[in-house]
Amino acid sequence: MKPLLEVRDMTVSYGMIAAVRSVSFEVYSGETVVLLGANGAGKSSILRAVSGLIPGGGTVRFEGEDLAAIPAHERVARGIAHVPEGRHIFGNLSVKENLLLGAWVRRSSLAGDLDRVLALFPRLKERYSQSGGTLSGGEQQMLAVGRALMSRPRLLLLDEPSMGLSPKLVESIFSMLADFHESGMTLLVVEQNAAMALTLASRAYVLEAGEMKLSGTAAELQDNPLVRSAYLGE
Ligand SMILES: Nc1ncnc2c1ncn2[C@@H]1O[C@H](COP(=O)(O)OP(=O)(O)OP(=O)(O)O)[C@@H](O)[C@H]1O
Ligand SMILES: [Mg+2]
Repeated sequence: MKPLLEVRDMTVSYGMIAAVRSVSFEVYSGETVVLLGANGAGKSSILRAVSGLIPGGGTVRFEGEDLAAIPAHERVARGIAHVPEGRHIFGNLSVKENLLLGAWVRRSSLAGDLDRVLALFPRLKERYSQSGGTLSGGEQQMLAVGRALMSRPRLLLLDEPSMGLSPKLVESIFSMLADFHESGMTLLVVEQNAAMALTLASRAYVLEAGEMKLSGTAAELQDNPLVRSAYLGE
């Protein structure tokens, strides 16, 4: 079986800093894959290079096709949605306008998708006309995920979806991601909350200082002594 996403020898540099060094990994259709790594390991850089927001060396293939010449907006249209670190919603636009922006790549009817996202996040329905910037942190995270879902992604990239959320909200975000996984969506998740992320994951990779150090099934990594001491706090 061919992977949905295949990354080969990816490098990302910022001036003299080599943030990602010859990283290779793949994500198969229907999998939830988690990227673990300390602060500054290069996780966000990898997601940004996959979605085309920053340039990277090496090869990124989606459904077997090389994305080198495909700009970011075209990657969204092909089914790659990215919920960036720190949410990046439009503070001056309403909840509704933020959600509709997620669907700009599509021409078909949006009403059904809006209903679906609002059913998933009733809180957003209550705040429908409120400007994004005045939502609470957790509500902004819901809006960022909801906006990504509006593009009907086949591959959803999530950069620290639980960051800054209360334990209760973290649980509901993870249970929602589990539902996405159940429904067959493919997820690539960067998460500091390694324990919860590994519960959700099919497979995981561990990144250290820009290099891939370990990979395996979630169960294998949960049993790995290095992962236990560095990421599971044991
Ligand atoms: N725009 C930039 N300009 C210069 N250096 C950058 C830039 N973005 C990231 N870096 C550097 O690249 C390295 C990797 O950053 P990246 O954001 O990918 O790490 P990360 O694994 O996502 O970390 P965190 O867990 O803290 O979010 C870091 O050393 C960071 O300082
Ligand atoms: Mg990051």
